Amino acid sequence: MRKILIANPKGGSGKSTLSTHLASWFSWQETKVMLGDLDRQHSSQRWLDRRPSNLPRIERWEIGSDQIARPPKGSQVAVLDSPACFGGSKLKKALKVVDRVIIPILPSAFDLWACQDFLAELAETKAVRREEVQVAAVAMRVNPRSNAPQQLAEFLRQFEIPLIATIRDTQLYNLTIQRGMTLFDLPASKNQRDVQEWRPLIQWVLQR
Ligand SMILES: Nc1ncnc2c1ncn2[C@@H]1O[C@H](COP(=O)(O)OP(=O)(O)OP(=O)(O)O)[C@@H](O)[C@H]1O
Ligand SMILES: [Mg+2]
Repeated sequence: MRKILIANPKGGSGKSTLSTHLASWFSWQETKVMLGDLDRQHSSQRWLDRRPSNLPRIERWEIGSDQIARPPKGSQVAVLDSPACFGGSKLKKALKVVDRVIIPILPSAFDLWACQDFLAELAETKAVRREEVQVAAVAMRVNPRSNAPQQLAEFLRQFEIPLIATIRDTQLYNLTIQRGMTLFDLPASKNQRDVQEWRPLIQWVLQR
């Protein structure tokens, strides 16, 4: 089973967008997918509530209140969305359950500064140092004409975190999310360019 935590303590960095997209992509692969939400705002859960019933099913991962419950047996992929200001003991608990962490980051100075301590904390965790948990980052809401992703990749190097994908800024995300859908749920002709951007991220998750 693949268990993936999506985390960045900076609010609005794209955690719920990334969580819902990952869950949705796997749902189309005839994979049993669970989506969990540690956030009191319940963005991912609210999205799941709106998901049209004719689309491939994504199961709710009931997390529990204190310890994070392991995803039920039989699930193949479990995605865990997390809130802003996430870190410390909560991060440690989550790292006991997952085997991958993906960090969505907006490539702007404020966003980089805001997650610096979190990245350092993550890199020092035993599970990460022992490579029991793999970590990667994704640049979110990128202006394709900017060189911000290169700067972000350079920033991440100090933590030995690879930048595995770059997702451009487009209204399509909001338009699909509000309908309980993702870009992967749209007809292929509408969004090929944007869907392609997710490919390296999916490949990374699929790696053994
Ligand atoms: N690639 C994108 N293009 C355009 N808008 C985007 C993109 N990715 C995310 N957004 C928008 O950015 C906002 C923040 O995204 P999201 O809610 O996923 O972040 P978050 O990290 O989960 O926020 P929070 O910390 O509040 O939980 C949302 O309005 C979302 O629709
Ligand atoms: Mg969120």
